[in-house]
Amino acid sequence: MTNETKPFQLETERLLIRPFCDEDIEAFIAYRNDPDVARWQGWSVPYPREKAMEFLEEMKNKDPEEAGSWLQIAIIVKETGEFIGDCAFFIKKDETRTAHLGCTIMQKYWRKGYAVEATRRLMAYLFDDLHLRRLIADTDVENTGSWKTLEKLGFRREAHFVENIFFKGHYASEYHYAMLEREWQALKSA
Ligand SMILES: CC(C)(COP(=O)(O)OP(=O)(O)OC[C@H]1O[C@@H](n2cnc3c(N)ncnc32)[C@H](O)[C@@H]1OP(=O)(O)O)[C@@H](O)C(=O)NCCC(=O)NCCS
Repeated sequence: MTNETKPFQLETERLLIRPFCDEDIEAFIAYRNDPDVARWQGWSVPYPREKAMEFLEEMKNKDPEEAGSWLQIAIIVKETGEFIGDCAFFIKKDETRTAHLGCTIMQKYWRKGYAVEATRRLMAYLFDDLHLRRLIADTDVENTGSWKTLEKLGFRREAHFVENIFFKGHYASEYHYAMLEREWQALKSA
């Protein structure tokens, strides 16, 4: 399935969440090259233009319902049309009906509630439209912004792993978070 046959778009009060397009390239390169953003993510700085173009091309044509690989989608402020980051999910290719979640916001837009607003909408899509059972997210214990965002969304901390990964030159510790579909429904009706 392609974007031509099934346009994918999610909306919130302030935000539009849609597939990447060519115009996003400069903003995408900018935040992929911000060391404060890259610090917690799987890529390193400098992040070259060719790699960014390749990545956007791959994301542009992905089916959001396809399991087994990450889909990153752009977050846009509706009022201004500004591109402010992306949210991402990976639907596992097994019978657990589980997806991993992630979110990246450009530094100049931090602390405005955008990560919570975009991720909550994505959760609604994954639970209510795709009928997934469980959403999960892992974060470095030192990435306060990330785990506070997850807790604000109602995720449960399921694990605290101590120095369980070797990441960017040092042993790091992780929190693992999860939410079940029934917990999501309970939150919605609270
Ligand atoms: C983590 C990240 C997505 C948060 O985005 P954001 O739009 O600033 O988050 P929000 O404004 O929605 O904030 C959500 C909550 O986290 C808190 N928070 C966000 N950043 C924080 C920080 N650096 N320190 C402490 N608390 C923080 C907010 O105060 C808010 O809680 P509150 O409403 O109770 O005050 C953003 O900092 C980011 O992109 N970081 C780099 C990439 C990354 O680490 N992504 C997460 C792993 S996938």
